[in-house]
Amino acid sequence: MSALFVTSHLSRSYVRGDERVDALRDLSCEIARGEFVVLAGPSGSGKSTLLHLLGGLDRPDAGDVHFDGTSLGTASEGERVALRRRHLGFVFQAFNLVPVLSAYENVEYGLWLAGMPGAERRARVTRALEAVGLGHRLAHRPDHLSGGERQRVAIARALVHEPRAILADEPTASLDSKTGQAIVGLLVELNQSQGTTFIVSTHDPAIAGMAPRVIRLADGRLAADERRPS
Ligand SMILES: Nc1ncnc2c1ncn2[C@@H]1O[C@H](COP(=O)(O)OP(=O)(O)O)[C@@H](O)[C@H]1O
Ligand SMILES: [Mg+2]
Repeated sequence: MSALFVTSHLSRSYVRGDERVDALRDLSCEIARGEFVVLAGPSGSGKSTLLHLLGGLDRPDAGDVHFDGTSLGTASEGERVALRRRHLGFVFQAFNLVPVLSAYENVEYGLWLAGMPGAERRARVTRALEAVGLGHRLAHRPDHLSGGERQRVAIARALVHEPRAILADEPTASLDSKTGQAIVGLLVELNQSQGTTFIVSTHDPAIAGMAPRVIRLADGRLAADERRPS
């Protein structure tokens, strides 16, 4: 398997008042195409910072991230925007759905913005919502869906662009533990059925236990890189 993400000596710090916070320190790792990886670590350990750098939403202070051979550290903002749109999907803790749009329309919106013709749009949206088990909830607005269902819509919205990788930052943190585990079970299934690479952060050990590979962060450093035999 070839590497999809490579980080080399990646560091990022923030200035808060007159102190410097080293959010990520000298982190080197590789994530292969088709992998399912959990980023685990307590609050403040650097998970979101790492996901933002992997997704080209932020730039490192030192070191670099390569996505599919492209340096995100040196790419321009425009190049990173284009790369994100074409190849990456994002899922967040707060589902960030548009409240006045139905599940279907929330998933369709990005394709519509991208100018995709109607017939292809309909096929893709239906397929994505069916893949997350919401084929029967197309017309529901977010306020008529449960938390788990809202997160499924957000996952379908990421999937519909057929990205190479989906980066999910604490996608279960707003859900009860049973629903959270069902959501991660769904992500594992999608990884296996569609081959999409997933990087999922969590501070929940039960969720980390579901992944074939866990990268543990502590104080911005890579504390452990564990692989479980499948
Ligand atoms: N925009 C920011 N400004 C200042 N400090 C930040 C900022 N973002 C994150 N940090 C700090 O960097 C460290 C890592 O944060 P983060 O990557 O959000 O960790 P996690 O996602 O694991 O909770 C924490 O100490 C956090 O307070
Ligand atoms: Mg975070």
